[in-house]
Amino acid sequence: MKLWGGRFGEDTDDLVLKYTASISFDNRLAAYDLAGSIAHARMLAACGIISAAEGREIIDGLTALAQDIEAGKIEFRLDDEDIHMNVERLLTERIGPVAGKLHTGRSRNDQVALDMHLFVRDVCGETLDAIKTLQQALTTQAEQHFEVIIPGFTHLQRAQPVLLAHHFLAYVWMLERDKQRFQTLLAHADMMPLGAGALAGTTFPIDRQMVADELGFTQLYENSLDAVSDRDYLLELLFASSTIMTHLSRLSEELVLWSTEEFGWIELADRYATGSSMMPQKKNPDVPELIRGKTGRVYGHLLGLFTVLKGLPLAYNKDLQEDKEGAFDTVDTVIPALHLMAGTISSMQIRTDRLEAAFAHDFSNATDLADHLVRLGVPFREAHAIVGEWVQTAIGRRTNLAGLPLAFLQEKVAAIGEDVYDILSPSSVVRARQSRGGTAPSAVQLQLALAKERCGLA
Ligand code: ARG
Repeated sequence: MKLWGGRFGEDTDDLVLKYTASISFDNRLAAYDLAGSIAHARMLAACGIISAAEGREIIDGLTALAQDIEAGKIEFRLDDEDIHMNVERLLTERIGPVAGKLHTGRSRNDQVALDMHLFVRDVCGETLDAIKTLQQALTTQAEQHFEVIIPGFTHLQRAQPVLLAHHFLAYVWMLERDKQRFQTLLAHADMMPLGAGALAGTTFPIDRQMVADELGFTQLYENSLDAVSDRDYLLELLFASSTIMTHLSRLSEELVLWSTEEFGWIELADRYATGSSMMPQKKNPDVPELIRGKTGRVYGHLLGLFTVLKGLPLAYNKDLQEDKEGAFDTVDTVIPALHLMAGTISSMQIRTDRLEAAFAHDFSNATDLADHLVRLGVPFREAHAIVGEWVQTAIGRRTNLAGLPLAFLQEKVAAIGEDVYDILSPSSVVRARQSRGGTAPSAVQLQLALAKERCGLA
């Protein structure tokens, strides 16, 4: 017999049961559901809505049940539909009809809202920790390879050299904003929905503040319709997670590129790479590839929930049950991705020999040569054109800018002297960019110190 079976004349069709049940995935909320029920029962007793003895029986029953669930001793039943009704049935089996008093003044609509708030609160903590772990991995690599210079790109074409540390730290700042987004989400999820009932509140003299205090919420939903219909905090979870995945996916793409023989800037640790069943020589960057690939499903969950919510009338509609699997899959995708990326970054080798050789036939010092001409009095636009011609000449002569003789340069710019060659090395080019936030070692030192503070390394 269904908990809500009173007004029904026949059993639910099997397909309907399977289609509407959520226990296969919302069993994950069991611990939150029990914690919420214990707080609710304590409040009911404190307010005299149930007796103290009844309260004690219910709370003891729930506590024992929580332990058995935790220990994996409980099997949930599909015909109990969802976690809330499974828990109530299990409690009834254990303590008898008094269990039926637990649901006084409560609906599954405010109950499931509470469970999801508690879930989000937990995953925010886990995600913040995981972000920090990756920030630390990047910051540590930045510090350990502080002297390493890499070609910087625009349009994936050589642009200007930058410190490898500068490149890694760029991701640390993206992740810093990700942390801020999760902190904001945490503040928005800090609202207690229980007491909204099905949609309109309850006729019992409940104390919502007490439940909030018990469960560590600082705010109450002020509107019962909003309390049972709000899924904004889940949209925020999915958006903040999608943004993390965007960052991880961009970094993944770079690791995939950098680990090719064509680039050869990094070598992934064997334990973070995989092989081929056919080609004995292969070492594949499966982890970054999969992180890049899994970004799609997280974006999909965000768009999915937006679509579920659009056009839903107030208050609860069964459509809202569709909020869960996407949220669960999102956190199951994002948190491991952060940890795996941290491991990949800390364990990889930087191929400094290859990076040093990378600048041999390189024109990423062309801006500096133009800037040099500007200092000699040539207007920048003219300097740009002159250096452009020199680049063309150097390409024709199979050399680089430093390979052009001084006499040749002086044909165009008489004032140019021998010291021009000093500014053309990658390290000079990098050292020259001392503007705040620039790639000069002096500027990056400052940045590194700040980044270490933000990720708890200082
Ligand atoms: N399993 C449901 C969900 O996740 C719980 C709330 C059901 N409420 C209802 N009136 N059917 O949304």
